[in-house]
Amino acid sequence: MSSSSLFTDPAILSLVSASLVLLLAQFYTNLVINRSLSPKMKAWVVVKNGGPSEALALKEVGEETTTSLPEPKGADVLIRVSHAALNPADLVFMRHIPTWVPFRRQAIPAMDFAGQIIALGPKAAAAPSHAAKPLVVGTRVAGCLNVGLIATGHGALVEYLTVSSELVARQPKSFGDSNAKAGPPSAGLLGCAGQTAHLAATDARAEAAFGVAEPRVLINGASGAVGSLLIQISKARGAYVAAVCSGKNADFVRRLGADLVIDYTKHDPLPAYLASTGEFHGANAFNLIFDCVGDQSLFLKSPAYLTPRGALLCIVGKGPMAVPYTLRNRLVPSILGGTPRAYRLLGMSPSGERARAVAKWADEGGLIKEMTIDSEYDMADVKKAYEKQATKRAVGKIVIRVQGDKKVDR
Ligand SMILES: NC(=O)c1ccc[n+]([C@@H]2O[C@H](COP(=O)([O-])OP(=O)(O)OC[C@H]3O[C@@H](n4cnc5c(N)ncnc54)[C@H](OP(=O)(O)O)[C@@H]3O)[C@@H](O)[C@H]2O)c1
Repeated sequence: MSSSSLFTDPAILSLVSASLVLLLAQFYTNLVINRSLSPKMKAWVVVKNGGPSEALALKEVGEETTTSLPEPKGADVLIRVSHAALNPADLVFMRHIPTWVPFRRQAIPAMDFAGQIIALGPKAAAAPSHAAKPLVVGTRVAGCLNVGLIATGHGALVEYLTVSSELVARQPKSFGDSNAKAGPPSAGLLGCAGQTAHLAATDARAEAAFGVAEPRVLINGASGAVGSLLIQISKARGAYVAAVCSGKNADFVRRLGADLVIDYTKHDPLPAYLASTGEFHGANAFNLIFDCVGDQSLFLKSPAYLTPRGALLCIVGKGPMAVPYTLRNRLVPSILGGTPRAYRLLGMSPSGERARAVAKWADEGGLIKEMTIDSEYDMADVKKAYEKQATKRAVGKIVIRVQGDKKVDR
């Protein structure tokens, strides 16, 4: 990843401001209080900025002097982490958030977690968001840690995690009744990828597009974690789905429901191909484009293949250009050379509420049939797993077995 990709997507833009605001508060509440009460436990730590092979070390974090696990406070829960899922953004954080600042001396990466609750703070069981079905010891949950937590080093690649009950949701029943089966897909679906697919698919412009008769949707980056979910959701919403991926993933995206596969390696550059082939003009134009790759030309050329009332929803900014591109795409009128189509750059901010909505889609709505797992790695092999993530060739989620499905002892 190039050094210019500090602002790869909106999550990283918000990271900069959120981390500054949270720096002092997190230093005292999370590092000084929580960590000093933690016993030694295994975690991956970012020891220097760079790629996974140089940046990461498997360490024992916590205190020699303590043997008992921390008692969660307020609405927090203590989770025995069974699995963590990796995300492209982890690599950006690893490379760019400085390790030399004091609060990141034991900076644990990874946003997505799945596991079992082993203790609850006094307000967690009665938290309003879990009122319908209160959390208890043993509840299997999953979720995504926010950028403030990641910025302050409180990631998921650790054996035990203390997190607000507001960030967790129950693992979908449809994924099975043990952490061995349900942990890997839950970490991905209730984590960053699932919550981002939910954000995009429930955006007002997406809802409007799904509401037309015979909606037509184009998904760029369709074989990735977010794209593979958006195929399923779009199909279930009644859309004709054109999926852009390389030829080797054609069968995979067809299996998830794609009606048409466009191999971008054969049609390069993709926007010029879409504009020049007669296939996507007039009545065959798309009502909605999900861009999970971040190709600016896909928007600039979109009047040739996106209906006038259609929209392009992008989840990937382009480095420091994300803000100027967004301003141009949204504000410049066509009379001054702007593109006469709706554009939105989406940034996902995780919440338990969104995670619960995604779990419901898997359990009840039929909108999501699977969270594809690209590969599973043991805790010892996290560097290899991140190296695979860095290739940008994962098909679905890369998952780490942190503690797996062992019996919970406390
Ligand atoms: N805005 C947000 O809040 C937010 C949230 C989550 C993710 N993101 C961003 O969204 C992007 C996708 O995330 P993800 O988790 O789905 O990534 P991912 O699973 O790592 O995506 C890997 C997939 O990308 C495909 N791909 C790579 N280059 C491509 C290209 N030029 N054209 C089409 N497909 C291509 C690969 O397919 P082939 O091998 O077939 O090329 C591969 O299957 C990442 O950049 C991530 O940082 C943003």
